[in-house]
Amino acid sequence: MRLMKFVATVAAAMGLVVTSMATSAYAAGETVLVVGGGKSGLPLVKILKEQGYKVRLSVRDKSKAGDVEPGTEIVEADVTKADTLPAALKGVTYVISTIGAGGVEPPNNAESVDYKGVAALADASKKAGVKHFVLMSSINAGDDNPETFLNKRFGMVLMWKARGEEHLRKSGVPYTVVRPGGLQNCDPGKIGLKMGPAESKYMGRICRSDVGLVMTDALTNKDAAGKTVEVIAEEGAPLTAWKSAWAGIKTP
Ligand SMILES: NC(=O)c1ccc[n+]([C@@H]2O[C@H](COP(=O)([O-])OP(=O)(O)OC[C@H]3O[C@@H](n4cnc5c(N)ncnc54)[C@H](OP(=O)(O)O)[C@@H]3O)[C@@H](O)[C@H]2O)c1
Repeated sequence: MRLMKFVATVAAAMGLVVTSMATSAYAAGETVLVVGGGKSGLPLVKILKEQGYKVRLSVRDKSKAGDVEPGTEIVEADVTKADTLPAALKGVTYVISTIGAGGVEPPNNAESVDYKGVAALADASKKAGVKHFVLMSSINAGDDNPETFLNKRFGMVLMWKARGEEHLRKSGVPYTVVRPGGLQNCDPGKIGLKMGPAESKYMGRICRSDVGLVMTDALTNKDAAGKTVEVIAEEGAPLTAWKSAWAGIKTP
């Protein structure tokens, strides 16, 4: 923290704007465990590394890991096998979970992954002394209508995601839940975002990498602690205006 202030003071004296440098100085040396190397996990690793964090990525099968940013530590862990979690969490300061069920039959269904798996990860994170846990959930989590498209198609996924969130809230580990709209693959920071409380019932899409920016901000932003937010892209919104939304959102 002192180093960050020093960098900011020197830079101010030189008339420089150094937001990213200050972030790097703050993040240096702290390890973030990214759980899940899928379409959201991989761009998130890149963002975290650019911000100066050390990153450990956990995947279920190293031999199938995708295009992982060079210099990333890769470990194997499966949230449906609780005994694989302590080793992945050893020495970690922060956790960001990007996992999601890949099927409708156990152990790959929403109940096993989005509920029981997230719960096991939250409990193991608490035990490991993790400072902050960010969970990537989904808009409309908590909808338990079996006729809703996602519930019908993916085994009541919205209901199980809410149960996973609820377990995290009670686990004792400091947390933020981020519920994005429909996900797209695109570059971060190119479009403004709309961020509001849980149950905002926003309808819209968002770049996976922009969700990454929101989740990394939540790691150290005290205004994000204990919050559950919905977030979508909003054409025309100022690019970083969403950062000031945290403070106005109530904890559940
Ligand atoms: N698609 C959308 O429009 C949308 C919208 C809102 C929210 N979401 C949610 O956002 C999150 C990320 O979505 P995405 O499309 O980027 O995901 P994705 O590419 O499908 O990645 C999901 C990850 O979960 C991992 N995973 C599954 N079961 C696991 C287990 N038992 N243990 C450990 N890891 C496990 C997978 O690992 P492997 O690589 O080993 O299979 C994969 O890396 C998910 O929770 C999703 O439900 C999606």
